[in-house]
Amino acid sequence: MLKLLALLIAVACVSALDNGLARTPPMGWLSWQRFRCNIDCKNDPKNCISERLYMDMADRMAADGYKEAGYEYVNIDDCWALKERDPKTLQLVPDPVRFPSGMKKLADYVHSKGLKLGTYGDMGIYTCGGYPGSKFTMETDARTFSEWGIDSFKMDGCYSTTADFPTAYPIMEFYLNKTGRPILFSCSWPAYMQTKDINYPLIAEKCNIWRNYDDIADSWDSVKTIIKFYGDNKGNFSAVAGPGNFNDPDMIIVGNRGLSYSEEQAQMALWAMMAAPLFISSDLRSISNESRDLLLHKGVIAINQDKLGIMGQRVFAVSNIQVWTRPVLPAGSYALAILNENDGGSGTTVKFYLSNLAISSKSSFKLTEIFQGKDMGVFNSTTEFAIDVDVSSVFFGKLTPVS
Ligand SMILES: *[C@@H]1O[C@H](CO)[C@@H](O)[C@H](O)[C@H]1NC(C)=O
Ligand SMILES: *[C@@H]1O[C@H](CO)[C@@H](O)[C@H](O)[C@H]1NC(C)=O
Ligand SMILES: *[C@@H]1O[C@H](CO)[C@@H](O)[C@H](O)[C@H]1NC(C)=O
Ligand SMILES: *[C@@H]1O[C@H](CO)[C@@H](O)[C@H](O)[C@H]1NC(C)=O
Repeated sequence: MLKLLALLIAVACVSALDNGLARTPPMGWLSWQRFRCNIDCKNDPKNCISERLYMDMADRMAADGYKEAGYEYVNIDDCWALKERDPKTLQLVPDPVRFPSGMKKLADYVHSKGLKLGTYGDMGIYTCGGYPGSKFTMETDARTFSEWGIDSFKMDGCYSTTADFPTAYPIMEFYLNKTGRPILFSCSWPAYMQTKDINYPLIAEKCNIWRNYDDIADSWDSVKTIIKFYGDNKGNFSAVAGPGNFNDPDMIIVGNRGLSYSEEQAQMALWAMMAAPLFISSDLRSISNESRDLLLHKGVIAINQDKLGIMGQRVFAVSNIQVWTRPVLPAGSYALAILNENDGGSGTTVKFYLSNLAISSKSSFKLTEIFQGKDMGVFNSTTEFAIDVDVSSVFFGKLTPVS
């Protein structure tokens, strides 16, 4: 098993995008899910897409523990630009009413907090919200972002054809690289294709992270649908994940209105299993202490940020119970998530053996529950696990070999 893992990591190193970024899944904040394309700063100055919003979030990230926990990128999404490029330079222009200081100043501000600034665009003619896309201006846009001090670029795929993706995304990667500034590249490439002949090794060679599937919405149904897609793993995209390159199941909605606390725990646990980017999209100015503490949970983040960077996989699913495992450090350890998606009754006792987890190791494992740090005992190949998992809840633990 270890040999195989070493081999997978070696393979990933040969072919993966090498800009030194995203060695573990990137963490930060992203405006889209909570703030969408709200450009009405006149009536809703606090929540509209504006420099104030991103400065507020940078302030909260720096002051409320997020930065210390590893959250780093403050990411702008759609609707920040004017609808027309500068007629002379063809550069994108931030809306001067909503971003009166300009992007360079905003980047300086975010950097002064010890954080990084990400922005958004599109490989087609327009962004999904109808703002100018980069189709004919990739070199200019890459240079502009670099001059502004941008640290991450999410390139969406609206108003284009998927047939163009395998050439267009690599061209943008080429120009980003040419700027000499390390800019994390987030691609929406497979999201628009979903299961059709996707060249995942090529995507991993050109992108740091990539959205495979639909946008998340503020609901448990949405979270479950996403977890199913990543558990199905059609196209074997889990195999190309590793340091520098991660599948992106979309934003963390903890702190919004759609999830109960146990469902928020489930999202955090499953995103950790998937080695997923952690981009929070909720209002950090008004988030509950309970949700904030969950976002900052050291044990959850440690699994998410495990240095091996291996994406966990669903090992079995039966009667709305699914079990995921993910190899993590120290060598021979696993993270374990048991998700109960039933929506009636008072929970299920899930029973299984190590062999059901596709763990063939002869060692004994100590199991520690992660949220409470509870010691669950020692298990080996002949002992049966019996773990209670309530409805709409997750059991999240770590199996560490004991000698
Ligand atoms: C550009 O690509 C080369 C080769 O992969 C890499 O060594 C370098 O770090 C990249 N530079 C940037 C700024 O991404
Ligand atoms: C997925 O890819 C890995 C690594 O290339 C390979 O070992 C494995 O057999 C593949 N699995 C499937 C189901 O194709
Ligand atoms: C929430 O946390 C803050 C700071 O950590 C603390 O001052 C405040 O009292 C807490 N609020 C509640 C309702 O516990
Ligand atoms: C597994 O653990 C049980 C209970 O602790 C113990 O009796 C048994 O000898 C162990 N089996 C192996 C193969 O270590």
